[in-house]
Amino acid sequence: MNRVCELLEIEFPIIEGGLAYVGNGLLAAAVSEGGGFGQVGSAGRTVDNFEQQILIAAEATSKPFGVNIPISQHTDFTPYFEVIRKHRNLIQAVSLGAGNPKPLIPVIKEMGLRILVLTSTAFHSAKAESLGADIIVCEGYEAGGSNGPSELSTFTLIPQVKRAVSIPVVAAGGIVDGRSLASAILLGADGVQLGTRFVATTECEAHDNFKAAILQAKDVSTEIMTRILKGPIRVLKNEYSKKVQEAEKENGTLETILPLVRGKYNGLAMFEGEISEGFMSCGQVASLIDEIESAEEIVKRMAREAKEVLNSPVSI
Ligand SMILES: Cc1cc2nc3c(=O)[nH]c(=O)nc-3n(C[C@H](O)[C@H](O)[C@H](O)COP(=O)(O)O)c2cc1C
Repeated sequence: MNRVCELLEIEFPIIEGGLAYVGNGLLAAAVSEGGGFGQVGSAGRTVDNFEQQILIAAEATSKPFGVNIPISQHTDFTPYFEVIRKHRNLIQAVSLGAGNPKPLIPVIKEMGLRILVLTSTAFHSAKAESLGADIIVCEGYEAGGSNGPSELSTFTLIPQVKRAVSIPVVAAGGIVDGRSLASAILLGADGVQLGTRFVATTECEAHDNFKAAILQAKDVSTEIMTRILKGPIRVLKNEYSKKVQEAEKENGTLETILPLVRGKYNGLAMFEGEISEGFMSCGQVASLIDEIESAEEIVKRMAREAKEVLNSPVSI
């Protein structure tokens, strides 16, 4: 039995990563219905909306799902944790990213939930294990959204993290289909987490303009911005990302760059569809996505294809 499936009580080790603004309840439920593990995002949501999306997911599936808390994205995450505590019987796991998980791990453990911690180096993975994480999600810099400052690729990260910890390791960044799932497993991962692929789905509440931009993307259509903040973000290249890049070059500082990436600009493009007025988190795999499909179907197909790939003979 796969260890990730055992801990999360799911059929396939395919996880929907937290998706700021667009990680809605129906999407989480669809991923879980497909046999994977959906998650309701908290970034970009009011506390009330976060609670509502948890209830929508629970109504739409009886299968386990989780929630995502990117720590530094919230000025105060306490009320989100009150919602998690209130609905702990509906939730299987909490994933923590973008900040120090240390104070939150005991709180989640006490609620009886599983804990996934997002990391981007072997060192931080070992640290998260020592603090009590159940699963490490190691994310390479191919990934859409906020990346680790070390900018390691998923391909190199998986075996190094695998060496550093004994708990299960989930690979994120650059996973889009059965073949990439199989590759991650061959490199030693126990499962995978996807973000960009699940945005381009019928169940995701991302604006159609954002979904269309993903379908049009080429291999060179994403770029990293905000390196200067030691918090690189991978986005689709557009007028807005160019503006941020230029501001960075012109002696950008924390004070001048942070206001360009905090506040309304991410939601404006991804949720409201004003795609030139803000930035769209997006991974390098975007160019491999050709159709808006059902997330439930994507999970089922990925699992089927990965098994086929892993069972077929290869010559080297
Ligand atoms: C639109 C978008 C929003 C994201 N928002 C979050 C978030 O709120 N919290 C988080 O932990 N990760 C977030 N991520 C990262 C994903 O959860 C996931 O780890 C990543 O997308 C995996 O790489 P991929 O894009 O190559 O599939 C986001 C990614 C995208 C594409």
